[in-house]
Parts: sequence; structure tokens; C-alpha cells
Amino acid sequence: MINYARHYIDNHDLKSVEEVLKSDFLSQGPATFKFEKLLNKFFESRYTTVVSSGTAALHLIGKALGWKKGDEIITSPLTFAATANSICYSGAYPLFIDIDPNTYNIDLDQVENKLKKKNKFKKKIKGIIAIDYAGNPCDWKNLRFLGNKYNVKLVNDNCHALGAKYFGDKGYAVRYADVVSQSFQSLKNITTGEGGAIITNDKKIHNKVKILRSHGVVSKSRKGFHWKNNQIDLGYNYRLTDFQSALGISQLKKINIFMRRRTEIASIYDTCFSENKNLSIPKTNLRNEHAYHLYPLLIDFNKLKIKKDKMLNFFLKKGIRLQVNYTPLYHYDFYKKNFNYKKKLFPNAENFFQQEVSIPIFPGLSKNDQLKFIKLFNNYLFN
Ligand SMILES: Cc1ncc(COP(=O)(O)O)c(C=O)c1O
Repeated sequence: MINYARHYIDNHDLKSVEEVLKSDFLSQGPATFKFEKLLNKFFESRYTTVVSSGTAALHLIGKALGWKKGDEIITSPLTFAATANSICYSGAYPLFIDIDPNTYNIDLDQVENKLKKKNKFKKKIKGIIAIDYAGNPCDWKNLRFLGNKYNVKLVNDNCHALGAKYFGDKGYAVRYADVVSQSFQSLKNITTGEGGAIITNDKKIHNKVKILRSHGVVSKSRKGFHWKNNQIDLGYNYRLTDFQSALGISQLKKINIFMRRRTEIASIYDTCFSENKNLSIPKTNLRNEHAYHLYPLLIDFNKLKIKKDKMLNFFLKKGIRLQVNYTPLYHYDFYKKNFNYKKKLFPNAENFFQQEVSIPIFPGLSKNDQLKFIKLFNNYLFN
């Protein structure tokens, strides 16, 4: 089966994990602290806290920023459920804003209009979670400007974009946002199976998430004497195991190779599909280097008189699992029931959802398999 995404594990990964499995630490230990150090080096950031998932990272970020009932947090509906769920965990309100049809990221003009309007009525927005969808960075300079002007905390849900660059800078995420979430779930740009991280230059945020990761308990003893600990907040067990961290370390070493391979695959798709009027390839611009976590291809199904479901089933029967990323979150019963959004507020997300298909892109995709897919795709749609 050729999937739309897949992890890449080699012998170095296996060896790193095996070493830790044979060591004294299985739960949080030296590999975890080393992984955090290496992520700080990669992002040129001050503080990293690795956690058990990207969802846990977002949950703790909401807690650290003090979100609560009555607060409103702006985000895009074009994301994985965990982004908006993290707003709901704290009792705050997820204020969805439509996407920009060119970048598929949140539309910054509409964000500014909303901030202006809310300011006028003295109802302050508490935060913005912007997602670098598919690995394509948002216009973070502009977002930072809005964050400063309206005094709003910025979260970069960077779960798709490890390895992307903004103005040539691979550490951009933590340079512009107040705090950044990462996911190392199995299909992400690097993986620890499940896992995530919170990255920030803000000491207060860091201190909070670090304590919340481990039950809200602070250790007073350097000797591991638990009876000398104190619980100062209501926290969780969101720790990452040391063997997962070992995998993270050896995966991070390969990030440049992974990015090169993803870019090569994307450029073959770009060449094959860019001239076709019924298709839209993901657009980039000069300031961005796309991480191509996904390759979202838009297909004008109406014009081609083809049903998307039928096409996805056809490919599945041929051993190719395509995907749709994502169903806009206001379609889901939970969001309908609790927030009652009308689809007409989001014409760009609706259009995107009708047309988008995520086609195979991952470091281990062979050129043969990619060309086989392209041939089948062109035959199905255009012959
Ligand atoms: C944009 C985005 N945010 C958050 C998450 C949650 O990460 P995890 O699956 O590690 O909990 C994901 C994972 O799919 C994601 O794609």
C-alpha cells in the first residue's frame, strides 16, 4: 500500500532505541533532556519541554497562557481537531476565521478585522493559534505585528512545519510566536511514534509547562527522594519515554535529508500538475521554504464531473491511500452542537474541502512509486 504519508525508520533509529531499552532509564531520563537540548539548538530557542503528544503540548500551552471560560481564541478551522480542542479544554471559545485561498493558512486581513471589531466593543481576544498548514509558514512578521498591536498572545501550531524556513530561518516559529507546539506522531516530519514539544523563549511559560507535564509536582531533592517533593499545581502525566526521545534524537539528525527528499517529490508533482487548469498545486512564495508535510492538491471535481469519494475508492483498490486534510472543524457534531457555526462564514475553507486531496509525499517514497501514481492519476482524471 502506498500511503499519503509514512514514517521513515532506519538502522540508526533502531540502534538508538535499543541502547535506551538496555539502559537504566525507560521513562523520562537523559535521552529526553538531550532531545530537548537538540531541539533548542535546532530552533535557536531557550526552552523546550517534550511531552507525550502534540495534543498534550497544545493543552499545556492553553493552561500556561491562562485561558479560561469567557476567553476567545482565534484559530483556523482547517486543522486537525486537537488545535481547537485545546482551546475548548480550558473552557475558552474557539473563534474560527476563514483561510486565505492562496496559502490555505488563516486569513490575516480577516484576523485584523476581528481584532479591531472586538477591541471596539471592549471584548479582548486572548490568543491566536495559527497553523503552518501542510508545512507552509504563515506570514509571521505580520502576525507578530498584530500580536503586539492588539496585545494578543501568539501560538504557532507548528506540527506540520518542522524543517520549514521563513526568510531563510528554520527557527522562525519560536522567533515570532510566544510559544510553539510540535507533534512527533508517526506521520509527522520526524517521529517518536507519539510525542510532542512546547518550545518558547518565555521563561514563565516554560516554568509552567514543565511543572504541568509531571503532575504539577516540583522536586526539591537532587537525589530522587520523592517524599521531599511538593505539588504546587494540578498537572498531568504528559512525559515522553526515554526510548521515544532516543528515536527523536536520531530522527532529528536526518531532518535535512527528509526535507530535501520531500522538496524533490513536491517539485516533480509541481512540474506534472502546474499547467493543468483543473488542478491547483500548493503555492509558495519567495520568503517561505515549504516543509511539504502534506502535498494538498486541489482538483476541480465539478468541472471534471468526477466524484471525490469515487476517486479515493478507486485509488484504494489500486493500493494507494489518498487522504483529505482536513474536514473543516465546524462540520463536526461537537463544534456544531456547542458553537453552531454557519458554513457560509467560511467560503474558502468550504471550497478547499470540496477540492483537496493529499497525495503521497514522504521521504521513503520511491521515484517509481511516485511516477506510477502520477500515471494512474492522469489516466483516471483526464482520459
Ligand atoms: C496541526 C496539528 N496540530 C496538532 C496535532 C496533534 O498532534 P498529536 O497527534 O501528536 O497529538 C496534529 C496531529 O495530527 C496536527 O496535525
